[in-house]
Amino acid sequence: MKKTIIYICFSILAGSLFAQELKTIVLNPPNLKRGLPVMEALSLRASASEFSDAKLKLQDLSDLLWAANGINRIESGKRTASSAMNSQDIDVYVFTEEGAYFYDANGNILKPVVRGDQRGLVAGSQAEFAKAAVILVLVSDISRFKSGDKPLKLSWAAMDAGIVSQNIAIFCAGTGLNTRPRATMDLVKLKSILHLKDSQHLILNNPVSYQKE
Ligand SMILES: Cc1cc2nc3c(=O)[nH]c(=O)nc-3n(C[C@H](O)[C@H](O)[C@H](O)COP(=O)(O)O)c2cc1C
Repeated sequence: MKKTIIYICFSILAGSLFAQELKTIVLNPPNLKRGLPVMEALSLRASASEFSDAKLKLQDLSDLLWAANGINRIESGKRTASSAMNSQDIDVYVFTEEGAYFYDANGNILKPVVRGDQRGLVAGSQAEFAKAAVILVLVSDISRFKSGDKPLKLSWAAMDAGIVSQNIAIFCAGTGLNTRPRATMDLVKLKSILHLKDSQHLILNNPVSYQKE
């Protein structure tokens, strides 16, 4: 009897742990036909102060990530965002209510990194951004730069992250989404939960959501 109770308890616990496991998200191919003409999008580009927590549809998330730093030339593997010496140093981490994921542009998938709502760590001292549907965190791995001293590499990292962030901003302006570039975030805790190496630097983040009603 005792063994049966222990077995039932273990099964319930294992079941609930399994249910909480983060799964790989397979993204859709980008929809290259959507959005406003580029000049109209630029005329609307602005940093939003309010974000909705309504979940992004898979196509919107897929297009957002491809616009941010997806592969737009399959033959060379080059990206929608340029990078110093094509070092492709910027990785995009995607924070949602369920957890944080790594955007694998080659596989067009989101790989689970850490379970649970970690958006508060990205919001940092600006808690009002913690409920945005997704927050994209831009991390530069400066070990991918094959020349330059550390200060130069860090300046390239900032430039490359800025370009990815602006891709996000133009995509959002052209498709009716809200975003804001932000440097504020809890660098120490994020480095720890994302298991970043010392060569990986958290540079910018962009909360993204539908426009708040
Ligand atoms: C590098 C950079 C860092 C920023 N960091 C923050 C930030 O930590 N928090 C914030 O609320 N806004 C941040 N912003 C947004 C700026 O405050 C905003 O872009 C500026 O007020 C101009 O407004 P606009 O983007 O609507 O033109 C940042 C912008 C940039 C370019």
